[in-house]
Amino acid sequence: MFNSLLVVVAAAAAAVYAQQPAWAQCGGIGWSGGTTCVSGYYCSNINAYYFQCVPGVASSSASTASTSSAPQTTTSKTTATTTASSTTSASAPASSATSGVQIRAVQDPIFHLYLQNQNDTAVLGPEASSGYFTIGGTIALNGGAAPLYLNIGSETTSYRSLTFGSTASFSGWGLEGDTIITTQSSKYGRQLNFVACKVGSVFQTYLQLGSDVPAGSCTNYVSLHLPCLC
Ligand SMILES: *[C@@H]1O[C@H](CO)[C@@H](O)[C@H](O)[C@H]1NC(C)=O
Repeated sequence: MFNSLLVVVAAAAAAVYAQQPAWAQCGGIGWSGGTTCVSGYYCSNINAYYFQCVPGVASSSASTASTSSAPQTTTSKTTATTTASSTTSASAPASSATSGVQIRAVQDPIFHLYLQNQNDTAVLGPEASSGYFTIGGTIALNGGAAPLYLNIGSETTSYRSLTFGSTASFSGWGLEGDTIITTQSSKYGRQLNFVACKVGSVFQTYLQLGSDVPAGSCTNYVSLHLPCLC
């Protein structure tokens, strides 16, 4: 009953805006645009800062995430910033998203693009939708109901896809200074090169073990770093 009331309130708040098109942003901290998606898409909580219209029907957790964003954005539009930030910190995804570190590339054409999740695939994209990670053995993406882990594909090429999953199948990630590596004792040995290939407006990211490069517009020998030694 309380939930359905929330949905009605959220729908009323969202009705001010047009429905968001496929793949558009539909919520997240700081978002003040529409929070509903066109038919066939639902608003999925990619991370606390970025909700996106993705194909399908909302699961109960996804619809909770998108409805909770509506009061948040409404509040930030109608009240002072201080009120908005206290609203933000009261929501569970927001507080967990602020924990963790960002991971970014530092060379052209991906200079200061940030690691994040798109369709469970690791991509480098804008800071506004950056993931926040906990690194140590696994690389855990914070901000959702439960962390998602950065896993390495088992392709036979020397580039391996990087995906996010609810269980960690690789626990050999580490840091060397501010640089992301697979550790010497891991099954890949010490690696610190990645391949980034343009997909839409972001770059799909692969672990690079040799000189193979996927078809398309790719940059290899990319390294990934924390923004600071922090
Ligand atoms: C995610 O899926 C959409 C729709 O299929 C696609 O346009 C986008 O390129 C995908 N992202 C990646 C990184 O594959």
